[in-house]
Amino acid sequence: MITIQKVKKVFSTKSGKVTAVDNINVEINKGEIFGVIGYSGAGKSTLIRMLNGLEVPTSGSVQVAGKEVSKIKGSELRKARQEIGMIFQHFNLLWSRTVRENISFPLEIAGVSRQERQRKVDELIKLVGLEGREEAYPSQLSGGQKQRVGIARALANDPKVLLCDEATSALDPKTTDSILDLLVDINKRLGLTIVLITHEMHVIRKICHRVAVMESGKMVEMGSVLDVFKNPQQSITKTFVSQLSEQEDTLETVQHLLNRYPSGQVIKLTFIGGSAEQPIITNLIRNYELSVNIIQGNISQTQNGSYGTLFIHLDGAEGEIKKGIQYLQQQKVGLEVNIAND
Ligand SMILES: Nc1ncnc2c1ncn2[C@@H]1O[C@H](COP(=O)(O)OP(=O)(O)O)[C@@H](O)[C@H]1O
Ligand SMILES: [Mg+2]
Repeated sequence: MITIQKVKKVFSTKSGKVTAVDNINVEINKGEIFGVIGYSGAGKSTLIRMLNGLEVPTSGSVQVAGKEVSKIKGSELRKARQEIGMIFQHFNLLWSRTVRENISFPLEIAGVSRQERQRKVDELIKLVGLEGREEAYPSQLSGGQKQRVGIARALANDPKVLLCDEATSALDPKTTDSILDLLVDINKRLGLTIVLITHEMHVIRKICHRVAVMESGKMVEMGSVLDVFKNPQQSITKTFVSQLSEQEDTLETVQHLLNRYPSGQVIKLTFIGGSAEQPIITNLIRNYELSVNIIQGNISQTQNGSYGTLFIHLDGAEGEIKKGIQYLQQQKVGLEVNIAND
């Protein structure tokens, strides 16, 4: 769907030349949710803006949906852009227009008839869950609702590709989750290819199939999300991945758990794709004479299975605990038993 070949972007500034994107090659498949992560200044926005012709590469080629975006101009470019929707961190809505009028705007530009616009806008409002807010102005909406308008507007011309530039970075965690759920829903329902850039690893983990890591204009690492999480190669990638797990099981938490459960065993289960946590715990409770407490967990469903950690406490006869642990060991989940002694 998207082919980026040897793409370079150099800006000339008063203080000299800045290489924002430095020789990037990548192929993004149809229906894929492809994430690009990197710190501020890494070149992510410049890269994504070259996908819809908002920036022109200094050299190299960018093809989207069979068109050489980097070479076309004028009406041809405008037409190609209808196949590529984009959403932004700060929504970029028209503040003097209602929700309905904002979503309708790209349809007006494309010359769609009034009646057809009405039908399409109604459909989009439903798709993004904004029923009842059609006549509201952006200033009357929450951040999440504003981004829903942004998404509906981006989808108005039935694009093949949706570009998301830090689309959840201005939202609180709960709203971020609901917008990410919406993106997954749209990806599945419409088969839309999504390119998403972010500086937040949890966003990548939640919805992307593959991820590329950008640093100083280069893609320094790329792979399936689970492979990169399991086995990060570059130090920048390791930093991104470890930030995430540090958030989730701080030393404090572990110490606190151990104080609360002096008998039995506290076990940390790590899920990296594949196994789902629920049946494992259900079987443990059903098949062994154990009391099983789920102490805390931070498991998210990635596109390739469960990912995250779960702390459980097993109590019962010593032999029974042993059997329970054996069962867990057979389940292909990462396992740390009696984390007290680590
Ligand atoms: N229009 C521009 N003119 C000059 N320099 C730019 C321009 N746009 C981006 N840059 C520079 O290119 C580099 C990458 O920027 P950007 O693509 O916005 O990174 P990111 O989105 O990862 O934060 C930065 O050093 C930035 O200052
Ligand atoms: Mg940016």
